[in-house]
Amino acid sequence: MCGIVGAVSERDVQGILLEGLRRLEYRGYDSAGMAVIDGRQAINRAREVGKVAALADAITGNGLEGAAGIAHTRWATHGEPSQINAHPHMSGDRLAIVHNGIIENYQELREELKAEGFEFTSQTDTEVVAHLIEKQFRLSNSLYEAVSTAIERLRGAFALAVIHADEPDHMVVCREGSPLVVGVGIGENFIASDQLALLPVTDRFMFLEEGDIADIRRDRIEIHDRNKQPVERAVIRFEHSQDAAEKGEYRHFMLKEIHEQPRVIRATTEGRVTNTRVLEQALGTQAGNLLEDVRHVQIIACGTSYHAGMVARYWIEELAGVPCSVEVASEFRYRKHVIQPDTLFLCISQSGETADTLAALRQAKKAGFRAAMAICNVPGSSLVRESDLVIMTQAGPEIGVASTKAFTTQLTALLIFTLALARHNGLEESREAEIVEAIRLLPSQVDQVLALDGDIAEMSKSFMDKNHSLFLGRGAMFPVALEGALKLKEISYIHAEAYPAGELKHGPLALVDGEMPVVTVAPNNELLEKLKSNLEEVRARGGELFVFADQAADVRPQEGIHVMPLPSVHPITSPIVYTVPLQLLSYHVAVLKGTDVDQPRNLAKSVTVE
Ligand code: G6P
Repeated sequence: MCGIVGAVSERDVQGILLEGLRRLEYRGYDSAGMAVIDGRQAINRAREVGKVAALADAITGNGLEGAAGIAHTRWATHGEPSQINAHPHMSGDRLAIVHNGIIENYQELREELKAEGFEFTSQTDTEVVAHLIEKQFRLSNSLYEAVSTAIERLRGAFALAVIHADEPDHMVVCREGSPLVVGVGIGENFIASDQLALLPVTDRFMFLEEGDIADIRRDRIEIHDRNKQPVERAVIRFEHSQDAAEKGEYRHFMLKEIHEQPRVIRATTEGRVTNTRVLEQALGTQAGNLLEDVRHVQIIACGTSYHAGMVARYWIEELAGVPCSVEVASEFRYRKHVIQPDTLFLCISQSGETADTLAALRQAKKAGFRAAMAICNVPGSSLVRESDLVIMTQAGPEIGVASTKAFTTQLTALLIFTLALARHNGLEESREAEIVEAIRLLPSQVDQVLALDGDIAEMSKSFMDKNHSLFLGRGAMFPVALEGALKLKEISYIHAEAYPAGELKHGPLALVDGEMPVVTVAPNNELLEKLKSNLEEVRARGGELFVFADQAADVRPQEGIHVMPLPSVHPITSPIVYTVPLQLLSYHVAVLKGTDVDQPRNLAKSVTVE
């Protein structure tokens, strides 16, 4: 995913920009570049394929000094990774721009600008924006006006930072669908796509909102909203406790990571959806070609990632109408399997280094398939390097061995992917818009669930003295039940099993008594009434039920039935929201039992050996 850094100062900004880019390396990228306005009011630019270190080597001693500049790490979407396609892009030699996101209507704008005499040197959508702004600059002679007018023509998702040699003392930035934050300094100001990039120079940040456009000067920051009204955005101090390697105010990494979910789900969505659509190109330059004609999806994963794959199967078959198989990697790799040539082979892995998952991918490559795709959290991992198409989850480093935020961001990425695939298979625009809207609501819904932390901690006391537990769910909530049971057994060492609720009568009911708590997830979907009958079956055998139910589902607490009401959510996104209370339940049970929550016995975060 692309990264942006910018600075306006009195001092030379080259070092600030390079350090910012280094701090964005974790996002994954294929080239890097920088443009700076020098003391003679000229723009100097350097771009390199490969690492930020290569860019640093290229500019050392080459006079890329100046007090205003922008820099970028690029992850190719339009056009191959190359020096010509790397950012910053320029219009003539006076305007430079960096861009994060996708411009959907760039082809049509490119034709229009070409006809007007603008010359294109790259294959990127970004260069179109550079020329469009330069064209407006010639009319208005104001960079701010030019950006403000030009972006009205853009469709898609973008964060932009623009400098112009005729106005050397400031930069203009804006955001629409891709993240951008302003770093507030003393006598200097900064911008970046992620505040982590700016931590060496400031700890005060303004988070731009969708549609905001900001004029960044050394001593002033002016922001207008999408209606061109002046607005103030609060300055928020970065708490170093938020640093990935620190627990901060939290007792355990696991709890911290559970609470990070609203932010990282949003980050996984940003730049990939508009208000109504998924941006297919944000999934990679080749996404359109590779997804066309996919007739089957084979998902391979281990552990929690496997559960994410199981949820995705329900989505892929329902929304895209494409058959989908899911298998744990260690099984798949040791059996004779048949892979159709038009299969999309999809590996899901937080670490990208799980030995079985990688072995399955390598084996399948020999058998042949249409394309290999990865959903992964670690850029540069083996899985990412060996796949044709990659969707990075933006969970950030996950330290707790029991996976939490990695799972919900995997699900978010998988749903975005499903919508892209479904579009090739006739999904109606209105249905896509409805689900995109549901995705955009996820951060606030997860926040509402996190607010139940105290109530869930109270509920967890009922599990302390139990040795066994049963988790039930139907449809896409069955894998959520599996994930809930996995969390409980991993960190509290209570034996936990999950069943599709309809299987209750076929065995597990024999185990139900007052000593076997039964946990159920009950969103308000078409299976609710069936699930309620299953609950009755448990109740009739003296089992104690713990039900996480939609507040509108009319599941009432009574003797032996504890109900935790959850916000009403779209049926498609409910697996993501309903996972969170089960994470909290396991966490609190483990804390009560005094186990090593972050590093449970016998388990490893990344299983790189068989
Ligand atoms: C280990 C971890 C789990 C993880 C699984 C798969 O078992 O403890 O949290 O789900 O590996 O790992 P991956 O990195 O491939 O998602």
